[in-house]
Amino acid sequence: MKCRFCNKSAIIKLRAYNLKLCEEHFLSFIEKRVEKTIKKYRLFSPEDRILVGISGGKDSLNTVYILNTLGYKTEGLYIDLGIGEYSLRSKEKAVKFARQFNIPIHIYEVKKDFGVGITEISLLLRRKPCSVCGVIKRYILNKFAFENNFTVLATGHNLDDEVATLFSNVLSWQEGYLARQDILLPQKHEKLVKKVKPLALITEKESAAYAILRQIDYIREECPNAKGATSIFYKNILNQIEEKQPSTKLRFYLDFIRKGKKYFERALKEREDKLHPCKVCGYPTTREICQYCTIKNEVQKRRG
Ligand code: FES
Ligand code: ZN
Ligand code: ZN
Repeated sequence: MKCRFCNKSAIIKLRAYNLKLCEEHFLSFIEKRVEKTIKKYRLFSPEDRILVGISGGKDSLNTVYILNTLGYKTEGLYIDLGIGEYSLRSKEKAVKFARQFNIPIHIYEVKKDFGVGITEISLLLRRKPCSVCGVIKRYILNKFAFENNFTVLATGHNLDDEVATLFSNVLSWQEGYLARQDILLPQKHEKLVKKVKPLALITEKESAAYAILRQIDYIREECPNAKGATSIFYKNILNQIEEKQPSTKLRFYLDFIRKGKKYFERALKEREDKLHPCKVCGYPTTREICQYCTIKNEVQKRRG
């Protein structure tokens, strides 16, 4: 099996593009694809300061690495969620990565704000860890970016993540979520930093191969709270479809952005009209008190 572009043997076959590539051409294929995504969807420019939310996993580390390689001013923020051994191990990977590639990474501890980590918060509130975790992570990332003058907030969502979310939102016709699903979420409020997903067109498999070839050491285990998650079930189904019909995932996602999304704009507008400052922290919310402050208040009450 020969590389499409040179005489070397291919190390990977990308069925969605009908391409076989050697190591060198695979790495440049991924970097060019990310660069093209940035330019085509106007995610940011070299003048922007970009903050990447880092989990210690392949996708977020790849995002910081690739953006740096492409010459964008990028820093990382690792949020220590306080999920036992998993958090310790993922933090180690993030710190090691920062040292290895000399990329600035900040660390923010959830415990600093709440006195306890995600696991304890979910027990105290009797809520699923992933739902409190999502609220807390989004809030901290945006606040940190805003307060430290970053103009863009990037996350490492890959194509498989995006397609599984889209699939799930379509199954239950979640208009509000469908309206907000995109590679770029423009800035709609002075205190809400623009959000982007530069790896949205790169699959999980491509991302894993990229990290391994670039010797990026990442945490391979999933968060223990993700066990049995519906998103994993959907990803498996979508991979089965992809196996039979290569490039379905990419088409489903891109066609939604090109053709489907516009039908949900009303839901987006309705939400934006409702945004006003949270009574406690001042960050925009559609409620009287934002979800983050509500969780914080509840935790304080229950811990006494
Ligand atoms: Fe948030 Fe697992 S990463 S609960
Ligand atoms: Zn080649
Ligand atoms: Zn608030």
